[in-house]
Amino acid sequence: GIYCPIERVEGRVKTIASILDKCQKKKIAPERIEDRIVDLAGIRIICQFVEDIDRVVKVYLNNYDIHFENAMTMDVKQERDYIRQMKTSGYRSYHMIIFYEVDTLEGPRRLQMEVQIRTMAMNFWATVEHSLQYKYKRNIPEHIRERLLNAADAIIVLDNEMSNVRSEIMDAQISFQIQANIVADILNNIQNLYNVANKREIVKIQDEFYRIYAMNDIEKLERFDKQLDMIAEGYRAQALSDTTKIT
Ligand code: GTP
Ligand code: MG
Repeated sequence: GIYCPIERVEGRVKTIASILDKCQKKKIAPERIEDRIVDLAGIRIICQFVEDIDRVVKVYLNNYDIHFENAMTMDVKQERDYIRQMKTSGYRSYHMIIFYEVDTLEGPRRLQMEVQIRTMAMNFWATVEHSLQYKYKRNIPEHIRERLLNAADAIIVLDNEMSNVRSEIMDAQISFQIQANIVADILNNIQNLYNVANKREIVKIQDEFYRIYAMNDIEKLERFDKQLDMIAEGYRAQALSDTTKIT
């Protein structure tokens, strides 16, 4: 509920022409189609960052879908990690074959679908390469294949660079939150001191706070906050001993 690792999802049902094409190429008998062609249903999940892919994979592995109302049971039949193990073409993606159950007029049926999980950059590469394969009828000339391999290497670098930028953004957000919490704590401390300390001391503390705040240094703010804690603690102890003296 905090951060969505998915940029977008695409889905398709394999066209009849493409099914026939695959049957012919792989010598699949018509009655075996459902069993042998695992990508009759295909889902493609596009992520922004490489590390998002593992998160999405875990969602499938942990069968998160059962929490939803239209629950469908999913079983992972096969996983292929072409990200850590790039294909010789340069292709990279995380593949899963999933069994899922659908209700039909004849009762529940277990179908399979292919899930491809990849970054936007990997998707760009795969789309371009696929068009070239189509254009050259799967015989891409050597010099173009070489270019594609270079581009595939560049995609690895690009995805890594983007990951670095991302963790940079995350770090910035976290440290901003830490600083906001410390400042809130300091102001709270100062407000409480108004009840016990004298005006001159509070003005001094406030001026000190502005001075340290302007330095933009979390560690200095943190130290100042601890000092205020100690001052407040001192007043509490004093107040306590005062009351004991009265009684
Ligand atoms: P098919 O290639 O589909 O016959 O099945 P397979 O058993 O060889 O599985 P594989 O995991 O190699 O491929 C499954 C799907 O991944 C393909 O249908 C493509 O959509 C995609 N894919 C695999 N290799 C490549 C590749 O080199 N380039 C591109 N663009 N897509 C690929
Ligand atoms: Mg293949």
